[in-house]
This record gives sequence, structure tokens and C-alpha cells, in this order.
Amino acid sequence: MDTIAVIFGGRSAEHDVSIITALSSIIKPLELTEKYRVEAIYISKEGAWYWDEKLKNIDLYSSGKIKDFIKKNHPVSLKFDGGLTLIKSGRQRIRSSSLKVDVVFPSMHGTYGEDGALMGLLDMAGVAYVGCDLASSTIAMDKILAKEVAIANQIPVTKFVIANKEEIDKDIASVIKRVTTKLSYPLFIKPTHLGSSIGISRAQDQTALSNGLEVAATYDDMVVIEEEVPNLIEVTLPIIGNDVLTPAMLEQPMTKPEDFFDFETKYLQGGKKGKGKAGKGSQGYSKIPADLPKDLYKKALDLGLRTYQIVGCQGIARVDMLIDSKKGEVYFNEINPLPGGLYAHNWRAAGISSVELVDRLVNMAKERFEKQQKLATTFDTNYLQQF
Ligand SMILES: Nc1ncnc2c1ncn2[C@@H]1O[C@H](COP(=O)(O)OP(=O)(O)O)[C@@H](O)[C@H]1O
Ligand SMILES: [Mg+2]
Repeated sequence: MDTIAVIFGGRSAEHDVSIITALSSIIKPLELTEKYRVEAIYISKEGAWYWDEKLKNIDLYSSGKIKDFIKKNHPVSLKFDGGLTLIKSGRQRIRSSSLKVDVVFPSMHGTYGEDGALMGLLDMAGVAYVGCDLASSTIAMDKILAKEVAIANQIPVTKFVIANKEEIDKDIASVIKRVTTKLSYPLFIKPTHLGSSIGISRAQDQTALSNGLEVAATYDDMVVIEEEVPNLIEVTLPIIGNDVLTPAMLEQPMTKPEDFFDFETKYLQGGKKGKGKAGKGSQGYSKIPADLPKDLYKKALDLGLRTYQIVGCQGIARVDMLIDSKKGEVYFNEINPLPGGLYAHNWRAAGISSVELVDRLVNMAKERFEKQQKLATTFDTNYLQQF
């Protein structure tokens, strides 16, 4: 029986969302397969790692008892032994225990997890893991880099300008001038690396642009300013696969324009504001499949799949697109290496249960790892004999 370590929490603004993804969308379905030994690894907001059966219980977090748990328990040690082994040191009469991990299932959103940092650690350890690798995660979590990669591959993106924190702090007037000579209002101002709409604003005039730049620069060293897509239809496409891709359904989030980008609407209200028939996703209510003319649906589907491929995603990701419904133009917006809750509601609509989804993802992780193991990484030389 393979041991799967699900890693969640972490030093990210999306710490809490990551716990829910891990507990309900990954650990539970993995256990239901009855094929794996599933271990929970929780990374605290301070960055300490814990490994315990109790960490699988949502009450621990919702009641706030996690604070006591952290006080009373020792963080786990990791042994990089040509793979990854978890070691829990014993306390009093409890013996220390260790466990070799076969596959890691990262359930991290945002910084130090979804951005490739964890993937680099797992690559170094030499252990199989689910989802995007270091390079694709890094590209995906950097809005500027992702746009540049898209442009290099003839994938349409909205017109944009970039600015760094230093120039915003020192000479905001010249940033505003640069932006307004190249772009026209309304504009969106975004920190390059954060997700969940944190630090994002929309500006229709210079005052709002100036404020938006200042806000974004408090969150990030780099800021991207882009033109608004008019006649907007937003769609998102979850995809799984390594070489052969399986798309889920094109989904259309239905949150209203005036509140589409606050964290609360996305995650806390569970779509209470929305109306109509829809799946209840982590972005509130949405239409599955998106309500689009057939050719536009196909255009967005193809663009989503192509983007996944050119970014080099593996396992799972979700591609967000902005559509100008009058022009029939689809723009790539962003790609998320670990969709919240794996977007299980959408996979279900596409005929793939949560249990099948996680099982397929684990198999893909193993396949990719085996393929990597076959690549030559050493080369015998007589270099050392010279010394
Ligand atoms: N260029 C744009 N035109 C129209 N709406 C946009 C544009 N950029 C962002 N938005 C809106 O703002 C939301 C958040 O922006 P996004 O780039 O997806 O950031 P996040 O990483 O926080 O999800 C989008 O879901 C969309 O509703
Ligand atoms: Mg988004």
C-alpha cells in the first residue's frame, strides 16, 4: 500500500483555504479509495511542519484548538534519504515513529507551496508528487511571467504595463504617465504574485490608479496594470493530465461585477449572492457548462488546453480566461496550479468523482516520477582520478 503524504497550510494568505482543500477534497477521497495509507502534514502559519492523525479533523482548526496542538506537539523531521521519510520524535511514553513517503500530494495555495517552492524541495528529496512541477508552478504564480510565456506562444492577453515597487514608491507620477500613455481606463492593478484578489483594484481615473498602485505595491515588488476586458464573460477550465489532457467543463463564475474580486465573495459566502442553476464552487455560484455560443466555447476550451501545455503543467491546473463577448475574443488571464478544492464540483459535473480524481492524480504523479527516474542524470568521468 502506497503512503501518500498530503501537505497543507503553510506561510500563505491562503492558509485556511488550503486546509479545506486538503481535508475535504484530497484526504477524504484518498481514504475512500482504500488503496492508500494517507498521512496529514500540516504546516503552521509560522512554517513549522506537523504530522499527526488528529490533523485530519476539521474541528481542530475551526475550534481554534490547533494553537494548543502546536504548543503540545513537536514539529516533524524530514529525512532526505534518496526519497522522503517523515520522523516524529517520541514524547514520554510514545515511541518515535518514521514513515517513508511514496507520493506527496501538495495541497497548498499561494506562496511557499503553489508557487514552486515546495516542488523544488520535493525534487531535491527525490519523491513523486502530484501536480505542477517547479517551473510550471513558478510561471503560473507570476502574473507577468505567465503573460510573457503566453505572448511568446501567440496566446492573446490583455494589454498591460509593469511597474516595480521602488518606482511606485519614489516616483508614482512617472508610473502613472507611462501607464496612461499606453493603456486606457478602466484598468486593473494587481500585485504580480498574490491570488484570491488580494491587493487587486479597478481604476477608472487617475486617483484610483494612484491608490491602486500604492496598495498593490504594499503586497508585492512587482505590479501589473492591465486594460479591462469589456463585455466580460469570465470562464475557467480545470484540466488534468501529463501528456494526454482531460478537460473538465468550461465554467462561468456568476458573481456580480461589483464584488467579483473580494476574498469573502470567493470563499466565505459559498455563493449566497448568486442566483440561478449552478454548481457551488469556490468562486460562488457558477454556470457549468459556461453559457457560450458553440464556437466561442470551443475557442476557450482550446486556448485553455494550449496554455496548460505551453506552461508545462502536469497533473492538474485550472486556466482562467476573460472573454470579450461582443468581439468573440478570448484572453488568457491566469493559470492556477492547484485549483481550490481541486474544483471537484466541476469534475463531478464532467463525470469524474472526487475519488476517481485523486486516484488518477496519484497515478499521474507516479507515472511522471518513473519517467524522470529513467532520464540519465549522472555521467561517469575520470575527473576525480586526476587529483
Ligand atoms: N483585465 C481584466 N478585465 C476585466 N476583469 C478583470 C481583468 N483582470 C481581472 N479582472 C477581474 O478581477 C478578478 C481577479 O483578477 P485575477 O487576475 O483573476 O486575480 P486573482 O489572482 O486574485 O484571482 C478576475 O476574476 C476578474 O473578475
Ligand atoms: Mg483569478
